[in-house]
Amino acid sequence: MTDPVLVVAGAVLAGHRMLVAQRDYPEEVAGLWELPGGKVETGESPAEALVRELCEELDVVVSVGAALHDAVRPKPGLTLIAMRAEIVSGTPRALEHRAVRWVDSAELAALVEAGRMVPNDLGWAQEMVAELRTK
Ligand code: CDP
Repeated sequence: MTDPVLVVAGAVLAGHRMLVAQRDYPEEVAGLWELPGGKVETGESPAEALVRELCEELDVVVSVGAALHDAVRPKPGLTLIAMRAEIVSGTPRALEHRAVRWVDSAELAALVEAGRMVPNDLGWAQEMVAELRTK
C-alpha cells in the first residue's frame, strides 16, 4: 500500500484580498484557479511544507496562520488542508503556475460561480468568500 499523502494549500491574504494561482497541468484542471501549495514531505510540519511550497511556486516567504475549516479527502489516501498565510517578503510570481492574481470576495465568488476554481478547493473558496467580505 502507498503511504497516505497530505497536501497543504495556502490562503494567502493581504487586506481584503486572497491570492489564487492558475494551474498549468494536468489537463483536467489546467486553466482553473487554486490555492497554491503541495505535498507535505516526510519530517515536515504542514506549516513548514507551505513555506517551502510557496517559496518554490511563488518566490515569496510567508508566515503561516490558522487552518481553514475543511479538510478535503478527494480519494482514499489523499488529504488536503489549507492554512492562512501572509507574505513576509517578495512579490508573488507564477513560477509553476500559468498566472497568479489577487481576488476580493466578489471576484472569488465570480470564479466559483463560473466553475473556474479546481473542484477540490470549492469549500475553501466559499469559506474565504465569506471571510474576505468582512475585511
Ligand atoms: O507540488 P506538488 O507536486 O507537491 O503538489 P501539486 O501537484 O500541486 O498537488 C498535489 C495534489 O493536490 C494534486 O492532486 C493536486 O491536484 C491537489 N491539489 C488540490 O486539489 N488543490 C490545491 N489547492 C493544491 C493541490
